[in-house]
Amino acid sequence: MRISTFPCIKLCAFLFSLCRLSPSVLQGFSCSSVQKMSKTKIKQMIRACRPRKGRAKVDLKEPQLTCMYNLIRGDLSQNFTDYPSDMLLYLDSENVQKANCRSYFSALGATDFSVASSILNKGPKKFREARDCLGISGVSLSRDNVEVLGNMVCTLDRSDIENSDPLILEKLKACKDLSASQVAAMETLLLSGKTQYGYVTNWDQQTLEDLKILPLYFTRTFWDRFTIVCFYPLGSFHIVLFCNIYKKIFQSTKKKFLKGFLPDLRKQNPHKNKLQGCTEGNITQVTVSDPSFPFGYDVTQFNLCLDISVLKDNLYTICQKVDDNDFQKIILKKLNQAFPSGVPDQEVQMLASVSRSATLDDISKWNITELDTLAALMNPEDGTWETAQSKAIITKYLNASGNSLDSSELNIIDSNLCSLDISTLQTITADSMRNTKHLDVASCSTEQKRVLYEISNTSFSVHRDNPINYYNLVKGYLGGASLVDIISLSKQNISMDVKTFMKLNINVINDLTASNVQRLMGEHLPDLKLFENNTVIQMWVNMQQQSDLDRMGI
Ligand SMILES: *[C@@H]1O[C@H](CO)[C@@H](O)[C@H](O)[C@H]1NC(C)=O
Ligand SMILES: *[C@@H]1O[C@H](CO)[C@@H](O)[C@H](O)[C@H]1NC(C)=O
Ligand SMILES: *[C@@H]1O[C@H](CO)[C@@H](O)[C@H](O)[C@H]1NC(C)=O
Ligand SMILES: *[C@@H]1O[C@H](CO)[C@@H](O)[C@H](O)[C@H]1NC(C)=O
Ligand SMILES: *[C@@H]1O[C@H](CO)[C@@H](O)[C@H](O)[C@H]1NC(C)=O
Ligand SMILES: *[C@@H]1O[C@H](CO)[C@@H](O)[C@H](O)[C@H]1NC(C)=O
Ligand SMILES: *[C@@H]1O[C@H](CO)[C@@H](O)[C@H](O)[C@H]1NC(C)=O
Repeated sequence: MRISTFPCIKLCAFLFSLCRLSPSVLQGFSCSSVQKMSKTKIKQMIRACRPRKGRAKVDLKEPQLTCMYNLIRGDLSQNFTDYPSDMLLYLDSENVQKANCRSYFSALGATDFSVASSILNKGPKKFREARDCLGISGVSLSRDNVEVLGNMVCTLDRSDIENSDPLILEKLKACKDLSASQVAAMETLLLSGKTQYGYVTNWDQQTLEDLKILPLYFTRTFWDRFTIVCFYPLGSFHIVLFCNIYKKIFQSTKKKFLKGFLPDLRKQNPHKNKLQGCTEGNITQVTVSDPSFPFGYDVTQFNLCLDISVLKDNLYTICQKVDDNDFQKIILKKLNQAFPSGVPDQEVQMLASVSRSATLDDISKWNITELDTLAALMNPEDGTWETAQSKAIITKYLNASGNSLDSSELNIIDSNLCSLDISTLQTITADSMRNTKHLDVASCSTEQKRVLYEISNTSFSVHRDNPINYYNLVKGYLGGASLVDIISLSKQNISMDVKTFMKLNINVINDLTASNVQRLMGEHLPDLKLFENNTVIQMWVNMQQQSDLDRMGI
């Protein structure tokens, strides 16, 4: 569905409904696609994206948020709940009347602070403003302060967390991630005993469950203190406890995050390492299906207790559960022994994150002839690939008869495309590119970007008569575009967002004049000011005449 093929009325209705639709549909929303709409329509549309009870939050990306803000910044209401909460991050302090600042920070509390580029430093900046607004002068945050700050606590420093009302623990549960110093602060707070969880000496399994996700961040030192206080021998109690909690959280979320403690635990088994032979118990189908598997096995025991035939029969389950590199290497070694004449596609498809521990030699022994195998190996949830490994896999796949870099392959390979040689990239046809989603080429070299841009330029040239369509389609590849092509785009009112701008070839950026950039960025021009501390922007700004910059308002 292409936005511009709709007549205006339908277009407006369509955009209005965007915010209720899936994030993938929202990709179509941009400053360029709304520039012909009336202010009233734009406001209605932005309002449609406000947080609403019983509705999933609309995930908007930073360029969409700054675009919305730029479009209405001259005419903002003080009713902050009328706006998408993530957009509130971009409001200047002048946009918020002193009398309403508390309601602003309350609404901002629902924001996902991680949407903002880190260079914007939004966490510390907003915290400073919030301190002013709420009259926080000392070092400690009251219960009321924490309640207002909401998600902003995810950006706070160690000392702010340590000195806060314990309510902050409840807010930290909602954070996407915590830094090591934030974890240290959380542990200090818990050890103080002044939280609703009481003294650590009195904790039981229920306490750990009530702490929800927080125990998964606990450091080894914290667990040790906990078990010593509890007088449990040899640390086995905390392994059991950890497994129980891990199981619960594992079921509700997906692994991904486990911090340092878990791998430590696996390697730690001081008493048994010296013995030869499997003493921990042969690994069987029953062992493998236990949720705590492979807890209790250290690397040596895992090697000794895992029989090749058991591995073959339980490959899928074992690969799902083992995410320690040393264990994974053992699996790969045994797999090569199990299949001396090469590992078949079907088995390779089961490797999941285990595949990421493979050497080039391991990969050379895999059969990668089917699209399903390529898809399984390229699944981003299983981790990233080293360039050489990725190249070996894709090359191997392409070497099998009948395989090529068609759109299905491109969609699967995505950013791993950047591991391929120029000559391989040149085999991508304009047709394949046309039927492919937007590929992530950020990690590609200048030369690779140039090749991919040229192919996309050919693919989408049929849309040249509709510049906004054309721009939306080639946007991701413009890092490979020449000065001539970018200047020609600047004459077409496409409102390029600052993130796309910063990804252009640096030589092209440096050759753009102030008026080129003004025309190129349109509604997004104020974002140059927002991102003034980005080195690319700084470099460009430093080359311009002050009078030109003044004219542009930056
Ligand atoms: C602010 O917005 C909310 C929700 O949209 C609405 O219920 C409320 O009446 C508005 N308040 C003002 C002062 O406009
Ligand atoms: C850019 O850096 C300067 C100096 O470090 C700072 O004062 C300014 O607030 C920063 N601007 C933004 C938008 O972060
Ligand atoms: C473990 O397996 C080995 C070899 O398969 C076997 O010799 C041994 O008896 C088994 N040990 C136990 C405890 O079942
Ligand atoms: C690998 O693939 C080739 C070609 O499809 C096939 O002939 C061969 O038997 C496969 N080898 C294994 C071990 O599956
Ligand atoms: C490509 O395939 C040919 C024959 O099918 C084989 O001889 C060659 O080793 C393969 N190359 C790679 C890199 O797998
Ligand atoms: C991109 O396409 C336009 C017209 O379709 C053409 O003028 C331009 O030279 C092309 N750019 C490249 C780098 O091929
Ligand atoms: C771009 O916008 C300006 C001013 O709104 C208009 O005069 C011009 O015709 C537009 N150009 C194109 C290619 O749409």
